[in-house]
Amino acid sequence: MRDLAAELSDRLAAVRDRTLAILDPLDEEWVTRTPDPIMSPPAWDMAHIAAYEELWLVTRLAGTEPLYPDLAATYDAFETPRAVRGEIRILDGAESRAYMARTRERALEVLDRMDMSDAAPELQRGGFVWHMVAQHEAQHDETLLQTLQLMPEGAYSPCMGALPPVDEPVTAPEPMSVDGGLLMMGTDGGHGALDCEQPCHARQVAPFRLDRHPVTIGRHLEFMADGGYDDPRLWSEAGWAWRQQSGAEAPLHWQPDGEGGWQRTWFGCTEALDPAEILCHVSFFEAEAHARWAGARLPTEAEWEMAARHTPEGPDTAWAPWGEGEHGGRANLGQVSYRPARAGAYPDGASPSGCEHMMGDVWEWTSTAFDAYPGFRAFPYPEYAEPFFGGQYRVLRGGSWATQPAAARTTFRNWDLPERRQVFAGMRLAWDAA
Ligand code: AVJ
Ligand code: FE
Repeated sequence: MRDLAAELSDRLAAVRDRTLAILDPLDEEWVTRTPDPIMSPPAWDMAHIAAYEELWLVTRLAGTEPLYPDLAATYDAFETPRAVRGEIRILDGAESRAYMARTRERALEVLDRMDMSDAAPELQRGGFVWHMVAQHEAQHDETLLQTLQLMPEGAYSPCMGALPPVDEPVTAPEPMSVDGGLLMMGTDGGHGALDCEQPCHARQVAPFRLDRHPVTIGRHLEFMADGGYDDPRLWSEAGWAWRQQSGAEAPLHWQPDGEGGWQRTWFGCTEALDPAEILCHVSFFEAEAHARWAGARLPTEAEWEMAARHTPEGPDTAWAPWGEGEHGGRANLGQVSYRPARAGAYPDGASPSGCEHMMGDVWEWTSTAFDAYPGFRAFPYPEYAEPFFGGQYRVLRGGSWATQPAAARTTFRNWDLPERRQVFAGMRLAWDAA
């Protein structure tokens, strides 16, 4: 038990290190301001991280009172939606940091004396709730990075870690044949799985083909040069309505370079596009149109999982497409590179299907609407996933460069609205079997 407690405490500390490192290069003026009403001011995320940890690891487990009982509603995501978080009084940067630090001290005092055995309450068993809290902070770190990407020039200048070189850029799709069959989709727990990934259930998947790599910037430039953004035949009805109303002519953060081409603003810097890099910041609607232009389609969520899983025919034992083992050298995860890699940078991260980059770099839009798996049970609180079932939300899979390993696994399900582009999301092409 002592070992598990130490492991959980290390995990919480590792995520906190990332949170603080991410925020470090942010101009103090912008800590309490949001660049876009679809996002929160960074200080809201910071104090919300603390409030969530306090609720689950201090109040629920030990019964002690929260530090700011009056602010409970302010930091509840449903009671105070993003659109108003920039308008109300919230804790400032220093107060939020202190709240995070003080809460961590209290949480670790409680952790030391908790039962995590098979006989413990479900919340504590196997350390579930501590992993859930670490994962929640890691998810908000990614949300923070989306906000920081929207900041004006000069507000945020991070250091970007090196990525593996690719000598021969990927320039065309490479369909990999995936045998259909029985997929044991989802999981019965383990690797910190959350409620919407459960239970593990059998699905029949027809044979299909999936691109070896996600779509690159170069291929999307071809789609644009071919008039992709102006051809209604390539877009769904809802997609074309979004295209018209938004005026989108390129991925988010791209602008004309003044010489007939395109460039992008990336974390406050204007830079040339690298055609070999994996495409990012497209909406589901753009992904759908690009796929149709390429004579392909988006994969379903089940197809994606079939191709990503190390052992699709049994309950999941491996967290990653390559099996067990850390991601170092096999995936662009962990919020350190600050951008997607070039396609082909991680051949050792391939899943048995031969598909690469299934984890890290960019979230991949699937054609599946977010819904409950058969036998779903909300746990430990209904607001994580259930309110988003059955609506417009689409499933994204695989995690991005901004996802931490604690929040990434081949069964993990992310979701967002089809028009959203602040997500570090791209796409991978799929085809029916030849
Ligand atoms: C799973 C990324 C869609 O950010 O809305 C954070 C994660 N849930 N706090 C989100 C989450 C509660 C969630 N996503
Ligand atoms: Fe949250």
